[in-house]
Amino acid sequence: MQSGSLSVGDGLSISSQVGVQDVFDDIRRDLADLLDAERYRHSVRTARVCRVLARRYGVDEERAYLAGLLHDCGKGRSLEILYGERARELERLDALTLETRALHHSFIGAHLSRTRFGVEDAEILDAICFHPTGSDDFGLLGRILYLADYLEPGRKFPDRKKLLDLAFDDLNGVLIEVIERRTTHLKSKGRAVHPRTEELWRVVQEEANPVECMIRNSTNG
Ligand SMILES: [Fe+2]
Ligand SMILES: [Fe+2]
Repeated sequence: MQSGSLSVGDGLSISSQVGVQDVFDDIRRDLADLLDAERYRHSVRTARVCRVLARRYGVDEERAYLAGLLHDCGKGRSLEILYGERARELERLDALTLETRALHHSFIGAHLSRTRFGVEDAEILDAICFHPTGSDDFGLLGRILYLADYLEPGRKFPDRKKLLDLAFDDLNGVLIEVIERRTTHLKSKGRAVHPRTEELWRVVQEEANPVECMIRNSTNG
């Protein structure tokens, strides 16, 4: 496979004879230097889950794999890098994100994905930027990354595999379940749930249960 088939931006669609697997080899090597060993392994496992879900749902497998590989590349870094480089990701930081340290790495990761790894594909960058919270703008790629991050085989909770298997039949149904679990977990720790998460939940509910949502909305209205 030639690099031209990987439409992730000029940085990776280089006109040499380098194949996609060689590009991924380079990215994995760089990533292994950036991240600690466990975070690196989590990234590779997430990328693999992204790829199989992408295959199932007709999303470009390489784009999904790349999103999974890079989603946590901003871990362990401070927002200073965004200020220092006047990064465009700064415009996307809202007050709640600024005060929530756990959300910083995804904005840094989107920035590094652009500047260090040459990714220019807006959907991949958005999936990385908003992967901890989700976003109501998420299409299939963002949704797949959100799920893969939570359901990759390194996660140790009892029904992980069952949920992942179910995601091959009902992506949105499992997405609703995962959003609700993550929301419940945050609330149990006294942490704020970002409005983007609630928006994604609402959008997916409407897609999954349109009639039920229509009745509820008309009753509430
Ligand atoms: Fe993350
Ligand atoms: Fe992650």
